[in-house]
Amino acid sequence: PPNLQMVEEDSGLERVNCRAKGASSGFKVAILGAAGGIGQPLAMLMKMNPLVSVLHLYDVVNAPGVTADISHMDTSAVVRGFLGQQQLEDALIGMDLVIIPAGVPRKPGMTRDDLFNINAGIVKTICEAIARCCPKAIVNIISNPVNSTVPIAAEVFKKAGVFDPKRVLGVTMLDVVRANTFVAEIMGLDPREVDVPVVGGHAGVTILPLLSQVKPSCSFTQKEIDYLTDRIQNGGTEVVEPLARILRIDYFADPIDVAKAGAGSATLSMAYAAVKFADACLRALRGDAAVVHCAYVASEVTELPFFASKVRLGRNGVEEIYPLGPLNEYERAGLEKAKKELAGSIQKGVSFVRK
Ligand code: NAI
Repeated sequence: PPNLQMVEEDSGLERVNCRAKGASSGFKVAILGAAGGIGQPLAMLMKMNPLVSVLHLYDVVNAPGVTADISHMDTSAVVRGFLGQQQLEDALIGMDLVIIPAGVPRKPGMTRDDLFNINAGIVKTICEAIARCCPKAIVNIISNPVNSTVPIAAEVFKKAGVFDPKRVLGVTMLDVVRANTFVAEIMGLDPREVDVPVVGGHAGVTILPLLSQVKPSCSFTQKEIDYLTDRIQNGGTEVVEPLARILRIDYFADPIDVAKAGAGSATLSMAYAAVKFADACLRALRGDAAVVHCAYVASEVTELPFFASKVRLGRNGVEEIYPLGPLNEYERAGLEKAKKELAGSIQKGVSFVRK
């Protein structure tokens, strides 16, 4: 495969250097799986981020075309493409932030755990390379099942002697983004003003919205709580499967109109959520104060070794993990269910690397 760095340098070395200088104060970010459904819009949005000076786009297919396309955007980040495993290490050297949406997405009827067999191996290989090339980078893991891929990453880094629990973050921002949107819809609020903490993990019942802690303070009927909890937990399935099937109704003329029906899972809202989270990580790296978001991280908030809750981000990644706060009875019951499922997913990830 062509070495895209060479192609880029050959075709305009002076200009590339010039742009690199202009943007030298920013951060270096790599996206692994950059040619995929999430990867492409994520790459586009990161190219628009003024905090990014260098953007590395890596994939096992189609990286050259996506890189050429993104590189034409007139924003300051310098874009370089990397294709195939032999260029993985080049893609990673010197990176401050590595975002991983590599892997296969869900199809109708699949749970996130069904993706384990393929994605576990992909995340393991990528993390082995991160351990060799940029062990100090902040790592944002999007590949599902996040409940297991984050423990996999941690095990790989432990084996390599470079594990820093502050730097490995599972991206659960999409659950928060969905929760903010659905709560705003019901309460007639501007979604930008709504903040719903979503804790636990990133799959089914492990996604636990804490509706008693919504800001601005809202009071919901039990019917609204049931509706919102179910919709936030199954928001991904709304995209993966025809809505008609979820609602068990058959009056949609063409269910494909209302969902992807086998053509993939959430990509556009996910890219938005990933950028919101990555931007928060970069602002924290820059030294901004009070950068607080939910993320799935190594944690002592519960007896489980990994858990999603609000964390404060700083120059070293996760600086502080906040406790869950007061839960009502409904949320305490949800927490027990979530922990039971999470424990199995964590163990599965750990065993995959240790075996
Ligand atoms: P996709 O299939 O459209 O794209 C995945 C990309 O990864 C493809 O371009 C593929 O070539 C690439 N890839 C495969 N093996 C690779 C390897 N070894 N190294 C580098 N790249 C590799 O899938 P999509 O829709 O972009 O989803 C990606 C992942 O994100 C899936 O696992 C999906 O379940 C997950 N996801 C996570 C969410 C979250 O909230 N954390 C939300 C939505 C999806």
